[in-house]
Amino acid sequence: MFDEIINRSGTHALKLERYKNYKDAIPAWVADMDFKSPQCVMDALQKRIEHGIFGYTAVNDELTESVINFIKKEHSWDTSKEWFVFTSGVVASLNIVCGILKENESAVTTTPIYPYFLNAPKNMNREVSTVPMREINNRWSIDFDEFEKAIKPNCRLILLCNPYNPGGTIFTKEELLKIAQIAMKYDLLICSDEIHADLVLSENAKHIPIASLSSEIADRTVTLMAPSKTFNIAGLQSSFAIISNEKLKAAFEKSMGHINGGVNLLALCATQAAYEGGGVWLKEVKEYLRGNLKIVQKFIQNNPKLKLLELEAAYLAWIDCRALDTNAWKLFADNGVILNEGKGFGEGGDGFVRLNFAMSRAVLKEVLSRMETAVRGF
Ligand SMILES: Cc1ncc(COP(=O)(O)O)c(C=O)c1O
Repeated sequence: MFDEIINRSGTHALKLERYKNYKDAIPAWVADMDFKSPQCVMDALQKRIEHGIFGYTAVNDELTESVINFIKKEHSWDTSKEWFVFTSGVVASLNIVCGILKENESAVTTTPIYPYFLNAPKNMNREVSTVPMREINNRWSIDFDEFEKAIKPNCRLILLCNPYNPGGTIFTKEELLKIAQIAMKYDLLICSDEIHADLVLSENAKHIPIASLSSEIADRTVTLMAPSKTFNIAGLQSSFAIISNEKLKAAFEKSMGHINGGVNLLALCATQAAYEGGGVWLKEVKEYLRGNLKIVQKFIQNNPKLKLLELEAAYLAWIDCRALDTNAWKLFADNGVILNEGKGFGEGGDGFVRLNFAMSRAVLKEVLSRMETAVRGF
């Protein structure tokens, strides 16, 4: 099923639109998959469209139930209906969370990181301090001593990305407990972006929502999740924040105001269908992505100037090209592959590229062959 090559041109796909000037280049950057969503999602959307009335929309209990059941099944976490706030995207929610801080308060996060972790505090006129991620035992990890040192006296919020983008680290229970201890020691809120949680590829890792570790931790945590990466419905803009602390939830809702707009009808429809009926598809897509990852790893082994640490989740390979000592993004773009440029992910990202390998295997092989030509010819 995932071998099918689907032409996305003319479908408003950001992946294609942004780099139109690179004619015939293969886009392997922004984080969506070149696969059709589960059949149950397409059926639900079609059925809803046939209804023909697209009026104002509200989240109903059936939808929330399907989300709660999915989280319980996938992540062994018991959540409650009252904890949910539906939003039109995790990026929007990151901004909303930063808006909870007072103007003279700051956030702390790690770099390189998904760029909106750095943009969201700035958008909201809040300062953000950063700590570099460390390569420990062939895996991108947090240096907790450095992390603690980066916490300024006015710090109020840890912006955590788990699974980590870029690099695909899934933080262990021990690592999460260390983060939580720091949060408690300095009385910080935690905003945990867990958008990639359902796409665990490593057989040895399990995603643990940080808020599931204890009610004390949950009390200071806003967890952000979404079906968008999991079921490839990012264009529908569906996500939710899970906040068990009533006061924190009220602060989130106040910060959100009416700026986030209402919930999107088709997003809700797709979300419920995916969580209720997309389980088999999800299992299959992860298997396919594991196969693709092996192909990428083999390519890296054959090209010693490139390096890839262990990737535990998601479909975004964070490739270290520093040994090439050139603008790697441009080198690959000139050879017909559009990747994400590492420096966009903040300090420590320079010299890296991010390859999205969620594509049919035949296209992936062509991408890697072009990258190999680029590296060899350099
Ligand atoms: C860590 C992370 N958070 C958020 C997003 C985007 O979320 P949304 O499309 O719901 O705004 C992405 C997309 O790549 C991501 O990697």
